[in-house]
Amino acid sequence: MGDDHTTNHTIGVTGATGALGGRVAARIARLGRSQRLIVRDINRAPEYPGSSAAMAAYEDSSGFERACRGVDTLFLVSATESEERIDVHLSAVDAAVRAGVSWIVYLSFLRAGPASTFTFSRTHFFTEAHIRSTGVRYTFLRPSLYLDLLPDWVDDDGVVRGPAGEGRIAWVSRDDVADVATAVLTDPLAALTSEGTSHDITGPEALSLEQTADRLSTLTGRPIRYEPQTWEEAVESRRSGGAPAWAVEGWVSSYAAIAAGELDVVAPTVPELTGHPAQSIEGFLRRHPSALSHVAV
Ligand SMILES: NC(=O)c1ccc[n+]([C@@H]2O[C@H](COP(=O)([O-])OP(=O)(O)OC[C@H]3O[C@@H](n4cnc5c(N)ncnc54)[C@H](OP(=O)(O)O)[C@@H]3O)[C@@H](O)[C@H]2O)c1
Repeated sequence: MGDDHTTNHTIGVTGATGALGGRVAARIARLGRSQRLIVRDINRAPEYPGSSAAMAAYEDSSGFERACRGVDTLFLVSATESEERIDVHLSAVDAAVRAGVSWIVYLSFLRAGPASTFTFSRTHFFTEAHIRSTGVRYTFLRPSLYLDLLPDWVDDDGVVRGPAGEGRIAWVSRDDVADVATAVLTDPLAALTSEGTSHDITGPEALSLEQTADRLSTLTGRPIRYEPQTWEEAVESRRSGGAPAWAVEGWVSSYAAIAAGELDVVAPTVPELTGHPAQSIEGFLRRHPSALSHVAV
């Protein structure tokens, strides 16, 4: 693995030390393509034939610009949620454009809008708007909530609590999001049809949290149920761990976005761009049979 800042037409992959970017990097490597992995900790960069690594955080404007030099297409994974996330993203976008990146494939979020109920989603809207304003070529990948994190929504007593009402969501696996991202980044036809567009990326079926809990219960044989909360109850229960108000609002508003119907989307993107069906809850549990082992039988 070298520190190659000069290769042209290289794909740059950020977040390669994380779950989504790591999956994309592994897929690009399996296709035998070269890539630059831009990471915050060079010692944690995965190593693949044809990959190089560069170290920079998004907020390190000059470092990120250096890391992007020679990168033609940049897969920009959204940063960890924080109060500063919008500034962090804008810094990365501006640095990438200064470095000469010609196409940014940005990991956004489903139905991101300026007044999205899910507060973390708003920063995606403003990041998308900023990317557009730079004139760089772009594609926005807009996944639903990750199916992989659904087990975390179930407590040890088998209860999913939150103010999600009867709204529905089509949970999507990280593997499917990574497959879509990889297709867009490496397949010329997918790239062509993706330029200047947004792709909603969802699972195959939208379910309420009650239906989700019933499904999990049937599939695992563990007693899992949904218990609706009011907004106030949800905030109170999540505040107790000492989390800051913006984080609590973000978590609770993800349930409220489901209740508001804002995540009730089933998109054909996974089958259309990857050629395989989107992973269902059943399929996910087949691959991860112990995902709900924390729930008492
Ligand atoms: N749709 C959903 O349900 C959902 C759920 C959670 C998060 N998300 C969003 O989707 C993103 C990707 O998900 P994931 O599961 O791959 O998350 P993850 O495993 O936490 O990975 C995030 C990656 O982004 C890197 N990163 C974070 N902030 C950065 C910064 N300021 N500068 C440079 N690199 C930074 C991290 O680097 P380090 O390894 O150095 O930390 C890590 O490699 C998350 O970052 C978050 O924005 C979506």
